Amino acid sequence: MDDDNLVIEIRQEEVRDFPAVYNINSNAFNRKDEARLVDRLRLSDAFIPDLSLVAMLDAKVVGHILFTKINIENNDTKVESLALAPVAVSPDLQRRGIGSRLIRYGLEKAKQLGYRSVIVLGHADYYPRYGFEPTTKWQIKAPFNVPANAFMGVELVDGGLSDVKGTVRYAREFEEI
Ligand SMILES: CC(C)(COP(=O)(O)OP(=O)(O)OC[C@H]1O[C@@H](n2cnc3c(N)ncnc32)[C@H](O)[C@@H]1OP(=O)(O)O)[C@@H](O)C(=O)NCCC(=O)NCCS
Repeated sequence: MDDDNLVIEIRQEEVRDFPAVYNINSNAFNRKDEARLVDRLRLSDAFIPDLSLVAMLDAKVVGHILFTKINIENNDTKVESLALAPVAVSPDLQRRGIGSRLIRYGLEKAKQLGYRSVIVLGHADYYPRYGFEPTTKWQIKAPFNVPANAFMGVELVDGGLSDVKGTVRYAREFEEI
């Protein structure tokens, strides 16, 4: 549910937010893997500072979302896209619309920056509300075994994934998770 009483600001993550972002990821996922992944991705070529976003409530970081560069590759071509991962909201503030706002804001920002599509691995009943559809529609495959409906893509511009087919190559930092 979107809670209109929550005054949330979304902005680019800053260095001083790193500890809070670490804690939010580790608390939301109940393990440290995603928090450590974010730390590693910040140092990688796949990192885009404009697309590491925090949700602020009363000057406190309460949510984080990250989009990193990926390629969709086949024998002949390599097309740049983005991976949405991870997204996390403080457990005490979940289900109040903060995650939705981070996702919508992030998709819009990615579009403004000129990106044409986003890929996500996630809940098949959560992401379609933001326009994501199973990547089987475009013959885009994950680099590992995933339930077909959990691997999804969205076009940020008309035709953003038309004629794009192949296997997604994530930043190597993802392999360590
Ligand atoms: C997933 C997450 C980021 C969503 O943030 P949030 O602020 O709780 O989400 P919202 O309040 O915007 O929820 C939007 C809708 O998604 C639903 N939803 C939330 N989490 C969901 C989940 N894990 N599975 C399915 N639906 C979910 C909510 O019920 C809500 O639907 P509603 O408006 O019809 O009630 C947050 O719950 C979280 O940090 N979860 C743990 C980490 C995680 O699983 N991240 C996603 C994988 S990368």
